[in-house]
Amino acid sequence: MADDASHAQLTPAAPKPAHVPDALVYDFDYFKDPGFQTDPHARIAQMHKEAPEVFWTPRQGGHWVALSYEANYDLGRDWETFTSEFVPQAQMQAMRAALPPGAPHIPQPLPINVDPPLHTKYRIPLNGAFSPKAMNLLRDDIRALAKELVANIAPKGCSEFMADVAEPLPVNVFLKMFGLPLERAEAYRALVKEHFESIDFDPKATIIKLQKVAAIMRDTFLERKENPGDDLISRLWQANVDGQPTTLEDMENWGVLLFLAGLDTVMNGIGLGVRHLATDPALQERLRQSPELSQELTEELLRRYTFTVPVRMAAKDTEWHGAPIKARERVLMLLGGADLDSSRFAEPERTDIDREDKVHIAFGTGPHRCVGSHLARIELQIMYEELLAGLPTFRLDPANPPKFHGGNVIGLDTLHIVWDV
Ligand code: HEM
Repeated sequence: MADDASHAQLTPAAPKPAHVPDALVYDFDYFKDPGFQTDPHARIAQMHKEAPEVFWTPRQGGHWVALSYEANYDLGRDWETFTSEFVPQAQMQAMRAALPPGAPHIPQPLPINVDPPLHTKYRIPLNGAFSPKAMNLLRDDIRALAKELVANIAPKGCSEFMADVAEPLPVNVFLKMFGLPLERAEAYRALVKEHFESIDFDPKATIIKLQKVAAIMRDTFLERKENPGDDLISRLWQANVDGQPTTLEDMENWGVLLFLAGLDTVMNGIGLGVRHLATDPALQERLRQSPELSQELTEELLRRYTFTVPVRMAAKDTEWHGAPIKARERVLMLLGGADLDSSRFAEPERTDIDREDKVHIAFGTGPHRCVGSHLARIELQIMYEELLAGLPTFRLDPANPPKFHGGNVIGLDTLHIVWDV
């Protein structure tokens, strides 16, 4: 338990349901935990010493958390026990049918918020669009942009790296491949930040947020339907779901998910990786000498600093890795816990690019496993290569320690680094 002073900033504790044994209660607020503000992965490592592999926390409305590798691995795959459909399809259709004529569509992020078999139908068009072959075609553009961003900061001797590089790189890459105008990048990022800042227990608030996201893309969607280009929006218009042509509603359902996933994940991965490198000059030196190791570096940093936190809801009562979970209770997949589990990885807190087995689950498991993983890996790898080639040894700025955030995407708000010029 955190002390009283740090409790002040946590969400109020929900009453413990009678079926939750005292031994499985552990206090953890995944948005506001004080440890997450200073070093989220150190906090996760501490949890491994103190908490059961699946525990219940009273914070954020009260929910379960899967901490161990096995519990997370199984959760992602068992969609029949743990659903991603927080709003069942029948209820979603009824809400849409009740809308007055001309009211905006209620977007549902697809395919992430539905289970198979519907999931598969909405996933198939994305698999082709994000295939390794399609993503490899972006390499030259990504490298040119990474080079340019690093060249801009190199003469300065210091950088707030999130704003200077970690954010603009993936945001530009995604907007270009998706087909959204770059000049609106700032407005898009503001919406994404608002979306991930907190969770809404009121479904109406979530709907309003998602409608704002859909609204900011609608004119581009409609324009691209008439004038297709070489981008994902145009390609998705030409796809079909179950033999039916794509509708504007389908575009908005795909669009809200891709927008939120594409504009917030990679930047946090870059931030966490570069923050590690700034504390490990020997590793920097090794990679400068042997840039061909950048793939191993990327994988080990993804494992060591796994940062997304997906959520499921129990579809039925179940006994899960020792926890008595009841239908409709929420379960957080703390994937960072999975990849720091000593029963899966020897000395998990050691960052070791020579580690033989670094097969992590940073991109999830099961049917929802990340469709953007090939793109993310290419961006991370090229970023590390260009950063290490373009800057001499860099370190954290002692006057400005990194600022972290928790939530469904753990990451950094600011990362000040310095180097000699
Ligand atoms: C390092 C960066 C990234 C990480 C760590 C990551 C992680 C994840 C994880 C863990 C999931 C599974 C969620 C669940 O089980 O509910 C997921 C799903 C997804 N990701 Fe990523 N992601 C990254 C980058 C991206 C990018 C760049 C895109 C697209 C531009 C993307 C698009 C998606 C989509 C569409 C899904 C849903 C797949 C489905 O439901 O079938 N991701 N991601």
